[in-house]
Amino acid sequence: LAAASEEQPLAGTSLLLTAGPTREALDPVRYLSNHSSGKMGFAIAEQAQRLGAKVTLVAGPVSLPTPAGVTRIDVESAQQMLDAVMAQVEEHQLFIGCAAVADYRPIAVADNKIKKSAESMMVEMVRNPDILATVAAHSKRPFTVGFAAETQDVAHYAMDKLKRKNLDMIAANDVSKPEQGFNADSNALTLYWDGGSQALGYSGKSDQAKQLLLAIAKRL
Ligand code: CTP
Ligand code: CA
Repeated sequence: LAAASEEQPLAGTSLLLTAGPTREALDPVRYLSNHSSGKMGFAIAEQAQRLGAKVTLVAGPVSLPTPAGVTRIDVESAQQMLDAVMAQVEEHQLFIGCAAVADYRPIAVADNKIKKSAESMMVEMVRNPDILATVAAHSKRPFTVGFAAETQDVAHYAMDKLKRKNLDMIAANDVSKPEQGFNADSNALTLYWDGGSQALGYSGKSDQAKQLLLAIAKRL
């Protein structure tokens, strides 16, 4: 095990993280999803590897190359993402939930392609499991970091999620502005933990990722 140093503050640490969207199937040819590009999560994976961590990246469907030295597990649905994470969680000291996990999935997946008929249709949905909260509630929990994607009252909702999900840190992401968040190359995260906060300023996602990881390394 390598020792942490100034250049590699995460040496000897293993990081498990989620990135990208999930897809929730409606029938064999259709799904519900969101606009997550996976860029923030992949930037965290790349920077963590550079800072010395051993990185396992559980990724939803994205069109991004795997960062060098990173172990990648591809999944589609929230349930598959949860299963992949829980199979790995005890082997890791740090977990970062960066995926935009679909909050709901269709209650049933049709066996065959749904044919159009009426002018309107209803799709009944059921809540997905919360991956981040499940990790935080685990008996051998890693240092657990979440994201909060918000369009209003960002600080209030982020601190509420920090407490409610029992996290060690949360990165608040104001997704109401098109130049930061979901599909952008830059971001302006604000970190919150019990008793402190840090605004990272506006910069590229690689820089945001590095600043986030350095803040985590101080508190691990
Ligand atoms: N998250 C998760 N599993 C879910 C939903 C969210 O692991 N089923 C994680 C995300 O990866 C993120 C954090 O929870 O790290 C917050 O996601 P967000 O969508 O902002 O919050 P929710 O708790 O889903 O609440 P809401 O969407 O109602 O704001
Ligand atoms: Ca959500």
